[in-house]
Amino acid sequence: MPIHTSANFWVIETRYTAYAFGLNEARLLTHCYWGARLPFVKDYPAPFNPTHWSSPDGLHHFVPEEYPGYANTKYIDPILKVTFADEVRDVVLEFQDFKTTASPQPTLALHFKDSTYPLQLTLHYRIHEEYDLIERWVTLENLGTDSILIERAFSAKWTLPHGDNYSLTHLYGRHMDEFHMQREALTPGLKIIESRRIIPSHRAAPWFAIDRDASEDHGEVWFGTLAWSGNFKITAEVTEFASTRISIGVNDWDFAWKLMPGQSFVTPSAISGYTQNGFGAASRSFHDYVRDELIPHSKVLHKILYNSWEATLFNVDEVSQSNLAEIAANMGIELFVMDDGWFHNRNWDNAGLGDWFPDKVKFPNGLDGLIKKVNDLGMDFGLWVEPEMVNPDSDLYRAHPDWVIHFPTRARTESRNQLILNMARIDVQNYLIETLDKLLSENNIAFIKWDMNRGVSEPGWADAPGDQREIWVRYVQGLYHVWGTLRQRHPNVIWQSCASGGGRADFGILKLADQIWTSDNTEATARLSIQEGYSQFLPANTMEAWVTDWGKDLVPLEFRFHVSMCGSLGVGGNLLEWEQADRESAAGYIRLYKELRHIIQFGDQFRLISSQKNDYSALQYVSKDKSEGVLFVFRTHIPDPFNTPIIYLRGLEPNTLYTVSGFDQPRSGSAWMNSDLKVDLQNMQSKVLRIQRLTS
Ligand code: DGJ
Repeated sequence: MPIHTSANFWVIETRYTAYAFGLNEARLLTHCYWGARLPFVKDYPAPFNPTHWSSPDGLHHFVPEEYPGYANTKYIDPILKVTFADEVRDVVLEFQDFKTTASPQPTLALHFKDSTYPLQLTLHYRIHEEYDLIERWVTLENLGTDSILIERAFSAKWTLPHGDNYSLTHLYGRHMDEFHMQREALTPGLKIIESRRIIPSHRAAPWFAIDRDASEDHGEVWFGTLAWSGNFKITAEVTEFASTRISIGVNDWDFAWKLMPGQSFVTPSAISGYTQNGFGAASRSFHDYVRDELIPHSKVLHKILYNSWEATLFNVDEVSQSNLAEIAANMGIELFVMDDGWFHNRNWDNAGLGDWFPDKVKFPNGLDGLIKKVNDLGMDFGLWVEPEMVNPDSDLYRAHPDWVIHFPTRARTESRNQLILNMARIDVQNYLIETLDKLLSENNIAFIKWDMNRGVSEPGWADAPGDQREIWVRYVQGLYHVWGTLRQRHPNVIWQSCASGGGRADFGILKLADQIWTSDNTEATARLSIQEGYSQFLPANTMEAWVTDWGKDLVPLEFRFHVSMCGSLGVGGNLLEWEQADRESAAGYIRLYKELRHIIQFGDQFRLISSQKNDYSALQYVSKDKSEGVLFVFRTHIPDPFNTPIIYLRGLEPNTLYTVSGFDQPRSGSAWMNSDLKVDLQNMQSKVLRIQRLTS
């Protein structure tokens, strides 16, 4: 059992790391240690007892509390804020007891009660030992007879080893330009990363990494994420006493939850880790965890798909899709996905959303004919839906205008001509479950792309049973319920999460979806950078990447394929317009990807030369047994003369011989990892090199 307990001190150990906390003399739960695993339990520092009693700010200021609620002289950023029925607005937590369980994964639960009011709080810890990750969440329970208003309930706060010389890395972006890495020094004060759009959004991702002079391969990194597909908030604080702390949770902006007597509120999980081996190791432990523990079909290699969106937009019908499908099948594509435009009255983005049955003009005999054609060509069939949305011009909206999120006295702001169904409502949830279940039951659908194309506005819920501001959480819970029910009823379907590209990419959605549509930007040079940011916390098999016609005059087909082969390969170009020679080349790249995909989708990923920082970049994948690997090298535009940098491979067995395609001599893994490997490229050129262990 990786949890060491005593009456007032707890140590959680994973393979290489440890996390410790305990009750100090004032019986405050105090963070003690987060770092490398130490030989003996006695090695971990004891809870801190402040001696600076005379400070005008009181003693709480100095204590690195594990779960500080707003109370007394805690001027640090609290992670719990409640108001009781009599308007008392602080919370004084007293430790009660704790409990451990051994399976399926070891867990620790610590129980607290407010000193005066009937509020119970439980801190939960689940240990993912082999991934060096600890999952944390919190349950709040109302044991009384009056309601309690929760105004903030984050999932976790972490305290870094004492000091203020840390940097924070986070991801920011825009539609079509997601996942930029931003690394900045943390300075005294509060830094906030958040979403207010009801999805995590393109603007920020619910992920952080804090380091002290770390690089890709070396140095201490503390990292974390929130398994939540809605509004989130990360606050990083450096106090005036050089204490650095970071918190994550459901965003408290415009949030409130009326906790009724006998009811519980459970926060989403925060998952965090520590490594001494740099950002690359941090990413790989998240990659393994997502692949092995989170996604529904963890051992399934993803099929190479074709998606119709960029070829036919809304102009889909049996003939256009059959023509595309024939070419796709000849190229070796395995899954044909019809995107937007197939359902009732959907000729552009201004009508149809909500009416999830085939358009009678485009598909007079339903989807059967097309699906049969696709299946006869040897491919699976997939379909696009956007269940959370409704166009005002739709049968659904005409029947239920009250189902959308809105304030009754305000105009309903449309975005992309659409409004958002209130997924918090039970009637909306039931309607969607029935409608989509029917679609999946009546048609041979192997894959669903679940899209979501706008952020929320006028977030009202007039007849809410509790506080209207619960909508931020109840919406996401409703989404999980609908999607989860459909997943249970149709367990073999592969789902893809899309929100105008990568607007909903998080550990919460990956419990339902196996893949994420990374970005609406499919231009390959832009994708290099977007994909690198994505890889900070999400693995390559979840990253859907199409080869399209964007930038085709500048970016060769081979380059475009190589970029998409770094993830889960797809094709989205207008195949009807592709020359025969290009279709044949494409078939060759697809054959190659089929030989390599088990390494890319299931192997370890090493970012050798960053594409966000350089116009010459390199990325490597190595199979888990280290017997084979793939090296991708890209050069975008660099004026000559250019000195090709040395590439140092990673992840090989040091004393075993490997060959790298294009190089005559086998060399030891150690040699490939420590000395010259140069791949000369022209502008807009790329290469894929295979790495193979020599068998004696
Ligand atoms: C946005 C998605 O990101 C695109 O791939 C496409 O599915 C469109 N929506 C369809 O409306």
